[in-house]
Amino acid sequence: NVRSAYTDSVDFFGLNTPMELVEEFGSTLYVYNENMLRRRCREIKALSSHPGFTPNYSAKANTNIHLLKIIREEGMVVDAMSPGEIVMNLAAGFTPDQILFISNNVSAEEMQFAIDHGVNVSVDSLSQLDLFGEINPGGKVVVRFNPGIGAGHHQKVVTGGKETKFGVDPASMDEVRAILARHSLTLCGVNMHIGSLFMQPEGYVAAMQVLLSIAEQWVAPAGSSATGTDNGLEIIDFGGGFGIPYRKYDGESRLDLDALGTAFHAAITEFSDRTGYKGRFMCEPGRYIVAECGLLLGTCYSVKNNGTKRFVGTDLGFNTLVRPAMYDSFHDVEIYREDGEPVAETMVQSIVGNICESGDIIAKDRALPEIKEGDIIGMLDAGAYGYVMSSPYNQRLRPAEVLIGSDGRPRLIRRRESIDDLLRMYPEAEEFAARFR
Ligand code: LLP
Repeated sequence: NVRSAYTDSVDFFGLNTPMELVEEFGSTLYVYNENMLRRRCREIKALSSHPGFTPNYSAKANTNIHLLKIIREEGMVVDAMSPGEIVMNLAAGFTPDQILFISNNVSAEEMQFAIDHGVNVSVDSLSQLDLFGEINPGGKVVVRFNPGIGAGHHQKVVTGGKETKFGVDPASMDEVRAILARHSLTLCGVNMHIGSLFMQPEGYVAAMQVLLSIAEQWVAPAGSSATGTDNGLEIIDFGGGFGIPYRKYDGESRLDLDALGTAFHAAITEFSDRTGYKGRFMCEPGRYIVAECGLLLGTCYSVKNNGTKRFVGTDLGFNTLVRPAMYDSFHDVEIYREDGEPVAETMVQSIVGNICESGDIIAKDRALPEIKEGDIIGMLDAGAYGYVMSSPYNQRLRPAEVLIGSDGRPRLIRRRESIDDLLRMYPEAEEFAARFR
C-alpha cells in the first residue's frame, strides 16, 4: 500500500485487503470495524460510574441496524430524530423505554407515532409542548432547553445559543409550567445539545451546569419538600458533540475523555447528592461512537492536470460523503495499491468525484503520494454522517456497507442501492423493472 499507516496500526481491514473488499463487494463501499465500534462504546460508558449514568448513542450519525445492534449489546440506549429513526432503533432490538424521540418541528402524526410506540418525546418549543398536551393530555414529556452556550466545528452544526433554532429559552419557564398544568402533563425530563464536535470539554461542562440549574427547579421546586423522582423528573440529558481527531496523519490529539469524565462525574454526583435526584443522567454522542469505526472506499478512474492543478477522478462524489462539500470538512486519505510500497514523496492533488458540480471535491489540494488510475482510496473517519447523508443525486447508487467482525471477516450489512430501487417509487415501477432489469 502506498499510504495505509493508520489503518495498519489499528488492523482496520482484518483478514482482507481493501483491494479484495472492493473486488468482492464493489466500489464505493463503506467498511466498518466492529472492534473499534465496541471500543468507542466502552470509552463512553466509562465516563462515569454514577449509578444513574445512562450513555445514549445519537442514532442520526449512523442508523445501520447492524451497527445499532452492536451498540445495544454494549449497553447503550439511543435517541431518534424522526419516526424513521424510531423504527431503525426498534428493528435493532431497542425497547421503547430505551429510545428518546428528540423532536424538532414535527407534525401531530409524528408525535403520535412515537407515543403509540411507547417512546418518550422531547419537545423543542412552547407550541410543540402545547401540541403534545393536546394529543396526549396527562402524559409525560421531556423539554429541550437552549442553555445559551454553543459549540461546533462549523456554524451549521452549532445548536446552542441565541442564534440557533433549537430549544426552549429557560427564561420562559413560567409558560412551560402553565402549558404543563393546562394539559396535566408531567415533565419527565430536560435535555439540551450545544452542537457538534468540540475538542475541549469546558463549554460542555459549563452548559451542564445551566441544565442542572434548570433541572433543579423541577427536582425540588422552591418551597416544596419534593425530592428525587417524587415529582416525575427521570431524565437529565446533556446532549452530544464529543469530537474526534480527523487529522490522523498530522497526529491531532484526541478529546481528553478522562478530563471530561472527571468533570461530568463530579457535576452529576454533586447534583444527585445535594438534591436527592434518583433519575438518569445521559450524554448523547453520535460522532464519537461511530466516526472512526467507518471508512469509505472508492476507486481512482482517471487523473488529469488542468494547468497547474492535478485532479484525481474517482467515484467518491459528494453523493457518497457530503461533509467536505457541505462543511469544508477534512477527512484524511489513504491510498491502497497491489504491491504498492509506502511512498514518502508527495505532490498537491485534489480528489474529486463523478458528480456534475465543480464543488464535487472530497479532498482539496492535499499533499499526498502520487495517486494513479486503479488505486483504491480510503476516506478515513467516515462512519458518522457518512452513509446517512449520502444521496442518489445524479441517480448514482448509494454504496454498500460491510462490517469487519471481531474475527476479521467481512460481512455485507447493507447491499448497494440498485436501479430497481431508484424506480420503485413510481406508479410504473413494475413496468420499469421489467424493461430495465
Ligand atoms: N443530540 C442532538 C439533539 C443532536 O442534534 C445531535 C447532532 C447529537 C446529539 C449528536 O451530535 P454528535 O455527538 O454526533 O456531534 N452532519 C454534521 C453533524 C450534525 C449533528 C447534528 N446533531 C456533520 O457531519 O458534522
